[in-house]
Amino acid sequence: MPLLRAADIEKHYPGVRALAGVTFEVEAGEVHALIGENGAGKSTLIKIITGAVTPDAGTLSLDGELLVDHNPQTAKARGIAAIYQQPALFGTLTVAENLALGLEGAGLWRRVDWRERRRRAQELLDRVGARIDPDALAGSLSMPEQQLVEIARALGAKARVLILDEPTACLPEGEVERLFALLAELKAAGVGLIYISHRLDELAQLADRVTVLRDGQYVTTRAMSQVDKPELIRLMVGRELSGESNAPARPAGAPLLQLSGLGCAVNGVHDVDLTIRRGEILGLAGLVGSGRTELARILFGLTPADAGTMAWDGQPVRLETPAQAMAQGIAYVPEDRRRHGVVGPLSVTANTALTVLDRLAKGGLVDARREEDLAVDLGQRLDLRAASIHTTVGTLSGGNQQKVALARWLAAEPELFIVDEPTQGIDVGAKSEIHRILGDLAAAGKAVLVVSSDMPEVLAVSDRVAVMREGTVVGTLARGEATQERILALALGGAEVVG
Ligand SMILES: Nc1ncnc2c1ncn2[C@@H]1O[C@H](COP(=O)(O)OP(=O)(O)OP(=O)(O)O)[C@@H](O)[C@H]1O
Ligand SMILES: [Mg+2]
Repeated sequence: MPLLRAADIEKHYPGVRALAGVTFEVEAGEVHALIGENGAGKSTLIKIITGAVTPDAGTLSLDGELLVDHNPQTAKARGIAAIYQQPALFGTLTVAENLALGLEGAGLWRRVDWRERRRRAQELLDRVGARIDPDALAGSLSMPEQQLVEIARALGAKARVLILDEPTACLPEGEVERLFALLAELKAAGVGLIYISHRLDELAQLADRVTVLRDGQYVTTRAMSQVDKPELIRLMVGRELSGESNAPARPAGAPLLQLSGLGCAVNGVHDVDLTIRRGEILGLAGLVGSGRTELARILFGLTPADAGTMAWDGQPVRLETPAQAMAQGIAYVPEDRRRHGVVGPLSVTANTALTVLDRLAKGGLVDARREEDLAVDLGQRLDLRAASIHTTVGTLSGGNQQKVALARWLAAEPELFIVDEPTQGIDVGAKSEIHRILGDLAAAGKAVLVVSSDMPEVLAVSDRVAVMREGTVVGTLARGEATQERILALALGGAEVVG
C-alpha cells in the first residue's frame, strides 16, 4: 500500500486544464520525482496534496485511508510538509521563532518557554547539519540557509511526506550536495519524498521513480534506473528536441561598455576592468557571493559605482539610476524574478508593455493594439503557456512567470541585455529557446551579459566568460579556452584546484 495516493485528480481554472485525471503515489522511504514542462501542472498537484488547493474531482489517501476535509492545517497534522522554491519564513522573526511557529501547537495560549524553544531549534538545526544561530533573524539568512531551516521544521513536525518543489533552482553546487545527503537520510528514515525539478541530471542520483506530466495529463511512471535523460525529455515534451546547441562563434564587434577600476564600496565590488563588446554574449561566472549580481546591479544603476570609470561606445558615461541605465539602452532581468521581475496582478500584455510605454504611446495614450501585438509576438518567441495574453501573470506557472519577466525586458530592445540566471526554473525545451534568443540578440549586434550558476549553461551560451572572485574580475576566458575546470580554478583562486 502506498504511503500517499492522489487518484484521478482534476483541476480546472478559467480557460486552463491544470490537471486532468492524474494519479500519483509515493511509498515510504522513496524519492518520487515529478517532472514536466512549465505549466504542466506539477505545482498544482502539490498544492492539492498540501491542502492549499481543492481539486474539482479525485481523492487523496494516506496509508490507504481516504482523506476528508483536507486543508493546510489537517495536511500538516497528517504529516504532509512542503518546501517551495521561495522559502516561506517570516523574515522579521528569529530562526527559533520560525521553527516554533510550525511546531508548537496552537490552541491554548501558554507561556513561551524561551530556553526550551531555543534548545529544540538548536537540536533540529544540528540534525540538518546547519550552523545557523537560532537567534538570527530569518530574513538575514541566505536562501540556502532559509531552506535548511524549512527542512529542520519539516523534521521537527515529523513529516511523513515531504514535498520539495524545485529546491535546487537557486542553490549553488556545494549546497546541492548537502541537500541530497540530507534527503537520503530522510529517505532512509522512511519519509516519502516528492521531488520536483527541471534539472534532469540530478534526478538519476536521487530519485527511485519518476512520474511525467504533460499539459495537465498523466504520461507515465518509470523506475529511474530504466530511463535516461533523452527519454525523459521526449516524455515531457512529447517530441524530439534538437540537442543543446553550441552556437557557432560570432565575430565580436566594437566595445560597447568599458569598465576600468570600477568599484562600489557598499556592495563589495572593486577594481573591475572589463570590456563588453557588441555582438557577444559575455558569461559572468563565479561562486555565489563573488559579486556577480552586485556588478550587474552597478551597471543598471541600482547601486551606483563610487570608484573607476565607464565608457559607452567610447564616451564616458555615468549610470547612477536605473532610469539613466534604461535611457542608455540597458535592460536588467534580476535573479529573483518572482519578487522583482513581474507585476503579478497585471495581465501578460500589461507586463510586457511596461518597459516600452513611451514607445507604444501615441499622444499620451497607449495603443492597445500595438501593446497586444507585442505580447503575442514575445509570447510566441518564448513559448509562453498562458490561457491568453489577458491572463493575470500571478496565476501563471512559475516558469511561465519567468518568461514574462524576460519578455518584458526583451520588449525594450536594449543595446545591453543583462540577465541574472536566465533559465532558472525554466524547462528544457524553453531553455534552449531562451539561449537561442540571447544568441539572436548578439547576432544583431547587441551585447548580452549572462550571470549564471549553471556552468553547462555558461559554457553553452557564452562567447567569453569573465570569472569573479571576492568582488572583482579575476580573469576572462575565450570560448575555446573556457572549461568547467578552468572557470572553477579562477573562481576558487587557482591554487586550490589541482588537475
Ligand atoms: N490560481 C490559478 N489561477 C489560474 N490558473 C492557474 C492557477 N494556478 C495554476 N494555474 C494554471 O495551471 C497550469 C499549471 O500550473 P502549475 O503551476 O501547476 O505548473 P508547473 O508544472 O508547476 O509549471 P512550472 O514548471 O513552470 O512551475 C498553468 O497553466 C497555470 O497557469
Ligand atoms: Mg511550478
